[in-house]
Amino acid sequence: MIKLAPSILAADFSKLGEEVRAVEKAGAHLIHIDVMDGCFVPNISFGACVMKSLCGKSALPFDVHLMIESPDRYIGSFVTETTESITVHQEACPHLHRTIGHIKSFGVKAGVAINPATPAAALDCVLANVDLVMVMAVNPGFSGQAFIPQVIDKIYQISESRKENGFSFEIEVDGGVLPEHVWVLEAAGADIIVGGKAVFAGGNIEDNVKALLFG
Ligand code: DX5
Ligand code: ZN
Repeated sequence: MIKLAPSILAADFSKLGEEVRAVEKAGAHLIHIDVMDGCFVPNISFGACVMKSLCGKSALPFDVHLMIESPDRYIGSFVTETTESITVHQEACPHLHRTIGHIKSFGVKAGVAINPATPAAALDCVLANVDLVMVMAVNPGFSGQAFIPQVIDKIYQISESRKENGFSFEIEVDGGVLPEHVWVLEAAGADIIVGGKAVFAGGNIEDNVKALLFG
């Protein structure tokens, strides 16, 4: 079954702890932490101290998504006992192998994300090294944007390459995911979906999580 990582970017920040407990109770699997620096993406979200305030608030591991320039400088500050993975953008890392090694040196899973206009082939040289490939289905920066369907073929290509080479990384799809996309994403090879607006909008978190996980 596909796993769901609700993005707290779309949550009510005035009651983050409560919202995280609500997604856990509803059956979500991870907490997606969207970190934005106002340089790599045209928005600023929050940093490690907001993430750390959620340690111990639920049993769900953190799935950290760094949408920042020079991520190597900040990776260490996102490592906690609750951090399962840290993902950097291929477009932000001129020395991607080194950055992947740096993430792994902290004992957490290393992920690489690609923007909608970046081809799957940009990851060919690192697929043997990563634990997670994050395929962006929107241009990163904001929650609530429309899903870009052209990325479905890219997910399929990455999934086929995983099969052909016997790799074991997970494939996560981030941005604009709605309940009607889930079956096609799963069929293309996705293991994890991120849900921002689809989880937190409208206030009924339990129903929203169930709609994403069970249709
Ligand atoms: C986009 C972020 C996503 C996004 C998820 O920059 O990385 O995680 O906010 O929110 P929705 O599902 O609303 O696009
Ligand atoms: Zn994200």
